Amino acid sequence: MNYKTIDDIDVTNKRVFLRADFNVPLTKEAPYTITDDTRIRAAAPTIRALLKRGARLIVASHLGRPKGKFEEKYSLKPIFQHLKEKMTTPIFFTKDCIGPEVEAQVSALKSGETLLLENLRFHPEEEKNDPAFAQALAKLADVYVDDAFGAAHRAHASIEGITHFVSVKAAGYLMDKELKYLGGVLTNPAHPFIAIIGGAKISGKIDVIQNLLQKADKVLVGGGMTYTFLKAQGKEIGKSLVEDDKVELAKSLLNNPPRLSKAGDGGVVGSSGRYDGSERI
Ligand code: 3PG
Repeated sequence: MNYKTIDDIDVTNKRVFLRADFNVPLTKEAPYTITDDTRIRAAAPTIRALLKRGARLIVASHLGRPKGKFEEKYSLKPIFQHLKEKMTTPIFFTKDCIGPEVEAQVSALKSGETLLLENLRFHPEEEKNDPAFAQALAKLADVYVDDAFGAAHRAHASIEGITHFVSVKAAGYLMDKELKYLGGVLTNPAHPFIAIIGGAKISGKIDVIQNLLQKADKVLVGGGMTYTFLKAQGKEIGKSLVEDDKVELAKSLLNNPPRLSKAGDGGVVGSSGRYDGSERI
């Protein structure tokens, strides 16, 4: 796959819009605090590198599924607090992710400083991949960096739409690492190769499952979609999440999986080594 990484572009003094995946677990009750910051730590090498090279950094993410309107429990405030504690450079927070107030904060942002935007999904246009919303996000940026690997399968405004309105685009280190790893695993996997896939719905992952069935010796299914497969096997699933219209599909995947086409033994492309796991950003 041909793409640039942040090492290939000039970010000095540029307004860099970094799409991160800070969809981290929080405590159920207020005050909401982060219970696992793995995803934030995974984005740290990209953040650190961009700031070190003098970017004016604008970080955007979704959190949960707030259905297009503000809800305190989905605010990125706890993530801001967390970043503030971990970062050695100034970071600010916006009450929204688009609009004149945000634009003014971006204008005031200096090289080496960070502005965290409020949850993108407080606007329904984000998930609808609305072009006007994507353009409003793009207005904040000279450069677009995608490091949100966990959300890369979503055709949302901050992931897909925005790329049509920003000319300089690059992958962050996390995205690059995952793409290299995935590419290596899928084109030349070492056997035995066991794939594990989770998630609520088969419908969003059918292509991936079919692809994996051709390459992996075993595919292990977890998460909510397990119940659709269990129902396809005639098992009792009580009130568990199920996609009734996908039970037949699950049956055919179980009974007639696509043929495994074994590639020769090959190494798996490893990590880029850029993630040093250190606490400070
Ligand atoms: C995830 O946690 O899987 C990603 O952040 C994507 O979130 P979503 O499934 O709500 O789009």
